[in-house]
Amino acid sequence: MIVRKTAAELEKMRRSGLLVWQILEKLKEMVAEGISTLDLETAAEKMMADAGAIPAFKGYYVHAAGQAYRFALCTSVNSEIVHGIPSAKRTLRKGDIVSIDTGVKLDGYYGDSAITVPVGEIDEPNRKLLQVTRDALEFAIHKVRSGNRLFDVCGAVEQHVKSNGFSIVREYVGHGIGTQLHEEPQVPNYVDRKNENPRLKEGMVLAVEPMVNAGGAEAVVLKDRWTAVTKDGSNSAHFEHCIAVTENGPWVLTRP
Ligand code: MF3
Ligand code: CO
Repeated sequence: MIVRKTAAELEKMRRSGLLVWQILEKLKEMVAEGISTLDLETAAEKMMADAGAIPAFKGYYVHAAGQAYRFALCTSVNSEIVHGIPSAKRTLRKGDIVSIDTGVKLDGYYGDSAITVPVGEIDEPNRKLLQVTRDALEFAIHKVRSGNRLFDVCGAVEQHVKSNGFSIVREYVGHGIGTQLHEEPQVPNYVDRKNENPRLKEGMVLAVEPMVNAGGAEAVVLKDRWTAVTKDGSNSAHFEHCIAVTENGPWVLTRP
């Protein structure tokens, strides 16, 4: 069942969303050569604590990993697609791209967003990868409206990514969000006719999160049982926003 939120609930989700946005803005400013992904984690945890928010990913249990996740952020560098684990040993270098994915629970409601940030100057192929992934999310956002169907959203990402010659990760998908981090429906970044294609209605909130590889689509999970990387070692980008369906169209909760 897809849970629809009341206007009052959407206001709460707006507060979670804006907090996530603020945190990501600060982390983006911190990104520079020489800082570690654990430095980002430490700063994020402090900002969440100061805001009275609960880190949404910390303690999140994934059966396949056999253990709970222990961090507030996922930090995925270069060929890491998603779920990279913050580490003092992972120092950022000029030319890297780093995806920072984070979520909070505030007053019972979740917010979840991700950005991919260049470390210093990056080369043209990486710039294009980031731009195409960001644009794919924007095209999808425009489709999050009452009367459209889920496949309109999924298809918008797929079309833009494919027409630019990049590939879409299939193993990981977006999701509904609310009082749970992951609610129905699943939001793949591609259209698969075998999936359900519900009509979008006011009060639904979707976390749309394209994960785009410069090379092939295949993903493998590292021995840590969390970090997903591209099989061919090509770079991967990830952007995510939470979007509510309203009578006035799409409302992106995770940016001002
Ligand atoms: N943004 C991701 C998601 O919505 C991050 C979850 S990672 C985990 O699924 F650590 F919480 F598992
Ligand atoms: Co998400």
